[in-house]
Amino acid sequence: MELSEESVEHYRRHGFVRVPGVLSAAEAAGYARAAAELPGASSTGPEMRPFRQYVNVWRTSAVLRALTLHPKLSAPAHQLAGVPLRLWHDQVLVKPPHHETATEFHQDHPYWPHRTCRHALSAWVALVDVPAESGCMTFLPGSHTHTGLRPQDLHKEGDLFEIDPELRWSERVTVPLRAGDITFHNSYTGHMALPNRTDAARLAHVVIYMDADTVYDGRPHPVTDGVGLLPGDRLDGDLFPPLTSAAAGSRSE
Ligand code: SIN
Ligand code: NI
Repeated sequence: MELSEESVEHYRRHGFVRVPGVLSAAEAAGYARAAAELPGASSTGPEMRPFRQYVNVWRTSAVLRALTLHPKLSAPAHQLAGVPLRLWHDQVLVKPPHHETATEFHQDHPYWPHRTCRHALSAWVALVDVPAESGCMTFLPGSHTHTGLRPQDLHKEGDLFEIDPELRWSERVTVPLRAGDITFHNSYTGHMALPNRTDAARLAHVVIYMDADTVYDGRPHPVTDGVGLLPGDRLDGDLFPPLTSAAAGSRSE
């Protein structure tokens, strides 16, 4: 599936884009079953965090590996980024039923130990219907040009706006998704996810792509800790497979 020029233009201009119907309802339901079977994913109980997070499920679940590495996701990701990509990591993010905690506004990139990397992006895949009431994403259009900020606290409302007051006055775009729809967002695009006020768990699978030539900067991160990397090393090898489709072109910059 090739994205329209309009979708690519929307992504480049606003830092995010919604792509409906990437997976069929039946495909999404199959992946949702695999996500719900992750240990503790379906339990209820008190929660402190904005979500339950399962990082690099592609390494342990054959079903979710197929989704993470799926060309239906990586081909549009490559088209949007316009540069060759690798997998940085994936994560299943579960907001349990009646989980009143929002994921507060943040950019993803400042958390990552990447010395070089400008086009990293995430595919946020709705495995179930995700209306606003169950914790869909809200984006700050154009905020992907605001680079160089320190990491923001996902738990602290307004932390991003304390660092970058102009963004407090940005338009906010909330994007409900049907199961099988995806939003792609640039790693510098400010975003948040609403609380889940429904009876059903919100199940999302996020695949994060980075520029294929991304270099490690040595900071701690759960994905790179203990794997023997030195600052200045390229993030390549088995943990970071290339995910580039021959069909997508390269950007000229
Ligand atoms: C969420 O789904 O709750 C947040 C996802 C993100 O920050 O990318
Ligand atoms: Ni995020």
